[in-house]
Amino acid sequence: MTQPLNILFLSSEVVPFAKTGGLADVSFALPQAIKELGHEIRVMMPKYGFISERKFGIHEIVRLREIDIPVGDKLQRGSAKASFIVGQKVKVQVYFLENEFYYNRDGLYVDSKTKKDYSDNDERFIFFCKGVLESLKKLGWRPDIIHCNDWQTALVPVYLKTLYKNEPFFNGVKTVLTIHNIGYQGIFGKESFYKSGLPDEIFREIEHNGNFNFLKAGILYSDVITTVSPTYAKEIISDDELGAGLSATLKKRRKDVYGILNGVDYSVWSPENDKYIPVPYSIQTIETKYENKKALLKHFGLEYNEEIPVVAQISRLAEQKGFDLIAEVIDEMMKLDIQYIVLGTGDPKYEEMLEKIKRKYPKKVGVHIGFSEELAHLIEAGADIFLMPSRYEPCGLNQMYSLRYGTVPVVRKTGGLADTVEEFNSKTGRGTGFLFEKYSGQDLLKALKKALSTYKIRKVWLKLMKNGMTKDFSWTTSAKKYVELYQKLMTPQKKARTVKAK
Ligand code: ADP
Ligand code: GLC
Repeated sequence: MTQPLNILFLSSEVVPFAKTGGLADVSFALPQAIKELGHEIRVMMPKYGFISERKFGIHEIVRLREIDIPVGDKLQRGSAKASFIVGQKVKVQVYFLENEFYYNRDGLYVDSKTKKDYSDNDERFIFFCKGVLESLKKLGWRPDIIHCNDWQTALVPVYLKTLYKNEPFFNGVKTVLTIHNIGYQGIFGKESFYKSGLPDEIFREIEHNGNFNFLKAGILYSDVITTVSPTYAKEIISDDELGAGLSATLKKRRKDVYGILNGVDYSVWSPENDKYIPVPYSIQTIETKYENKKALLKHFGLEYNEEIPVVAQISRLAEQKGFDLIAEVIDEMMKLDIQYIVLGTGDPKYEEMLEKIKRKYPKKVGVHIGFSEELAHLIEAGADIFLMPSRYEPCGLNQMYSLRYGTVPVVRKTGGLADTVEEFNSKTGRGTGFLFEKYSGQDLLKALKKALSTYKIRKVWLKLMKNGMTKDFSWTTSAKKYVELYQKLMTPQKKARTVKAK
């Protein structure tokens, strides 16, 4: 192995402390996979009020008891505490940045009562980004790489190259910014820029339609940019709609943009050792999956019938996830011989829509509005078909989890879904699921019908399930790619060397 690196991994959500979506799964698993490769990696996140210090053994660090951060014209006092992510093979140190006023709330980004973003999300993450750098100095731990994730951490590279550029402590520290979803950029008015304390002269460069855009600033200032699948990397650079207005910015950085597919932590997401499911199973005992199907249907008060496939979704209820296609074709879907189960929370518009569907088709539909890790596992184990009709999908984890559980994915061919699901061909027996390309309800229905007709031929369906169950998307492959990238950043530029040699 080459020289071990020191890496600080920044994320606004990390399993098991706080989660709204896949970023939390990634922030739990990727640091472990990197540590397993022999590097020193530590994670830092906000200490939200709901994170129990007792449950997670979170303790004080004397040196980090007082961290003063200017945000706008206020001086905010914070502190940082520590605990660990405990994996199967390694433990990863986690620092929690605490501030009563900013983080002692019951949501991560959204007020659970009004369902609106907290109005001071700009300050909350300005505080975080500056707080990270101040904590490092006080701690005296200098990372070689700071790996940022999404807009909430995207100002760190900007601070490093402006306010902190002359600080010897940070000399040579390189930054990576991973975009998990370009649909969320952290867009605030110009007044937020003043709160950030960044030098006035950079506003012209980083502004977006007159606004302060955290993600755009991060894209321009980080040393490399990655996103979570090769296809999504291409999409957000070449298509301004998929790039959500930032494709021109990404084009400027094109040679520094990489697509690295997310992985799966099979110690958490495997039917043979899933602590949440009633009856574990594997490819050798595939029939046992149906005990979980029975339990799932019982949970929703639906009748079990071996002949009828359960089509399921687990999803944030957001525009991105394609629920308007469901709205369009639900009545046609309900004419098919299926049962439909959804677990999700988010946009009240979709929550109401799903409740309405449940009321209209009580014998065929099960809906759980809310967030439940346990139910998510039971659905993966008990369903026959997993539906992801996403408008766009940077990577998507549930389709990969589904493959391992023998739950056949029916997905739209976009982003990471296109990179992880292969169309099943009944003649060759190859492939792992069913895809549709056009964002249309009818095309979704066609793909679903293809799956249903395959389901009827038991032998073929079993082959399809097994194809998925033997796919391997473990994190090691992706972790190696991140490490290669870190190492590339640490290597002195070739150009400079050639100049010297002359
Ligand atoms: P995204 O990050 O866009 O939400 P991913 O497919 O990458 O999509 O990851 C979603 C993660 O969040 C998965 O681990 C999934 O099981 C989980 N998840 C989403 N909604 C819920 C919910 N309502 N209850 C439990 N888990 C959920
Ligand atoms: C985002 C994306 C999702 C991806 C996840 C983890 O929330 O929407 O596609 O899998 O981040 O990278």
